[in-house]
Amino acid sequence: MLLFSISPVNLMHTLAMALDLAVDGVSLHQKRVAIMCSYIAEKMSIKLHEEQALLSAALMHDIGAASFSDERKRISDPKLTGSNPMVIFVHAENGYILLKDSEPFSFIAETIRHHHDNWSGGNPSGLSGDQIPLHSRIIHLADRVDINIDKNKPILACRSDLKKLIEANRGRNFDPMVVDAFMECSEKESFWLDLTIPDYVNSFKNRMNLGGTPYNMADLVKIAELFATLIDRMSRFTATHSRSVSGVAVFLAQVHGFSESELHLVKISGLLHDLGKLSIPNKILEKPGPLDPQEQMTVRQHTFFTYRILSQIEQMETVAGWAAFHHETLDGKGYPFKIDASDLSIGSRIMAVADIFVALTENRPYRQKLPQHTVEKIMMSMVDNNKITASVVHNLLTNYKTAEQIVLSQENWTQPATVTEV
Ligand SMILES: [Fe+2]
Ligand SMILES: [Fe+2]
Ligand SMILES: [Fe+2]
Repeated sequence: MLLFSISPVNLMHTLAMALDLAVDGVSLHQKRVAIMCSYIAEKMSIKLHEEQALLSAALMHDIGAASFSDERKRISDPKLTGSNPMVIFVHAENGYILLKDSEPFSFIAETIRHHHDNWSGGNPSGLSGDQIPLHSRIIHLADRVDINIDKNKPILACRSDLKKLIEANRGRNFDPMVVDAFMECSEKESFWLDLTIPDYVNSFKNRMNLGGTPYNMADLVKIAELFATLIDRMSRFTATHSRSVSGVAVFLAQVHGFSESELHLVKISGLLHDLGKLSIPNKILEKPGPLDPQEQMTVRQHTFFTYRILSQIEQMETVAGWAAFHHETLDGKGYPFKIDASDLSIGSRIMAVADIFVALTENRPYRQKLPQHTVEKIMMSMVDNNKITASVVHNLLTNYKTAEQIVLSQENWTQPATVTEV
């Protein structure tokens, strides 16, 4: 197995972008919350390795809502307009359910579960005061500050109202000790201005890199599986899409003679190939008819985001290319980079073929899965039109039953449960 060693917080710092994706780009909510948490932790003299756990949780805190665009909209509304106040706890519980058994992330599951718990109680968890994990109390305050920032004003013009809002909820929503730390550090203009460029805060990044047990390849596979779950649960039509593409791509890579360690990278690439789909509203993915031109453009953004996110992760350059170029075509007319045959590696070509095969053999909102002769006809015409690679398609079609079995075997896999109320 290849020697991989990636700093956990650094990896989460990049993956947080995927969780904050929206149609118009990246919202950076979780990064800003993490920066505020880092200031507050310093003020509260929290030890470095504890701070790293806090920042990891801050960077992932809304993971339970990542697959559901309407819910993300709802929880970013400072007033939770018109809804039951208990809805805010739903994504916290779903984040907990998702992470508690996922070994590389299980250490932040409890923190995420309680990140909306109010200090004075009345929470579904039944906890109050210092029974609520300290990290959750810090994230709660930072989260409310960020959600209440008026994005139409210069950030320094928001400072006084936000401080009043937090002070007014001292001892009710927020731990008085955390409020004190926030009041002190937010005196500095730089506290606020750092939130406007969250990627450039070097002291934050440097502190994140120190110590901690790095993630290895086995951890990365588990993390990729977790993100595949987030992507695939966006629509019932794609419940196992990423896992199937990954399985078919690994099979084709084996046939093409990839090494054992390369196969691990193919597996990760397949699981993450549609990572950028987290930017697409669920209603587009579920639309029971053809997409209009604007919706098509929105869908086409996804591989761009997959590439830009994955290529920021250290040692993942190969994965980024294999994963993200699956809608590029040999004639250079694919998207979004218009890469042609001369720059498309065999890993990317395999991913494109695996993705098309799996898509054609899955049900879609507007059609049932297609029979073998139709799949063969479509794929051969794409070869004839210089879209996908003949040798890869040949290896797939001569092993059709095996590939079909890989897709079918995923149907036994069940998504982790999702609660709709607490
Ligand atoms: Fe939240
Ligand atoms: Fe895709
Ligand atoms: Fe796909």
